[in-house]
Amino acid sequence: MASDDGSVGRNDDCPCGSGLKFKRCCMNKAQQGVVPDVAELYLRNYRIKLKTAQEIAGMKVAGRLVIDTLRKVEELIKPGITTNDINRFVHDYTIKNGAVPAPLNYRGFPKSVCTSINEVICHGIPSDRRLIEGDIINVDVTSILNGYYADANMTFFVGKCSEEAHKIVNVARESLKRGLAMVKPDNTIGDIGWAIQEYAEGMGCSVVREFIGHGIGKSFHEPPDVPHFGRRGSGVTLVPGMVFTVEPMINIGKRFLRVLDDEWTAVTRDGSLSAQFEQTIVVTENGYESITPYEL
Ligand code: MF3
Ligand code: CO
Ligand code: CO
Repeated sequence: MASDDGSVGRNDDCPCGSGLKFKRCCMNKAQQGVVPDVAELYLRNYRIKLKTAQEIAGMKVAGRLVIDTLRKVEELIKPGITTNDINRFVHDYTIKNGAVPAPLNYRGFPKSVCTSINEVICHGIPSDRRLIEGDIINVDVTSILNGYYADANMTFFVGKCSEEAHKIVNVARESLKRGLAMVKPDNTIGDIGWAIQEYAEGMGCSVVREFIGHGIGKSFHEPPDVPHFGRRGSGVTLVPGMVFTVEPMINIGKRFLRVLDDEWTAVTRDGSLSAQFEQTIVVTENGYESITPYEL
């Protein structure tokens, strides 16, 4: 029953119409005065920093440079060049455009780009290794421009490649495409991984578990984690302004890996081919927009 002054008592029916007593329903919210907004909630509960329109605009400028760099790397790729040649190009081109190559000295990484050939899953270190006809090579570029990070990668063919090479590259590309198709408000992070795992394993391939997508913004890696496997409907609910990468690593053999003595190079345990595609994306009101767009 409402009190004499017209205010709602703790044992009254909640005015929100839930059928619960006020004390079991909206009383706490009323005491807090204001319901915290989504950005505050995501920061407090998940340490996820939703991005402002201005931050998204800044990241898109960095993203354009990353894709521009990858397109120029693609032209460079042919039998006979070394992965150090790719590193030199990416380093110089990044600097020339007023940006900084994020990998260089990141947790001790010694070069400006990751180059991962054949059975190398990720984090390959550029060296004097020459590309030879039939190789597949992933080039992963992350640039920092005006403080904003953008991260993307593609896997390229070196000359004419085997049927197996074409298969794993196509499955990896389609895995990213299917993961991204799940990105829209009210879906969850788990839906992305579920769609990727369902597809890639359905094609007889496997999904690497040890490396995952990540939030990104004014830092390289931040919450949320974005696994490329998992259960439908699990994990954090997607909301506009979330920015993260999706970057499934897909093996033609088993999913298990080993890290070489250089402490970076991750290779498939069974020596089978691995491929990857990565984009940085922002969740929008209707779905998503790529910060590092390219056709999949
Ligand atoms: N670009 C990678 C990613 O997609 C990270 C590379 S870390 C480095 O998250 F140190 F190896 F560069
Ligand atoms: Co990444
Ligand atoms: Co990357």
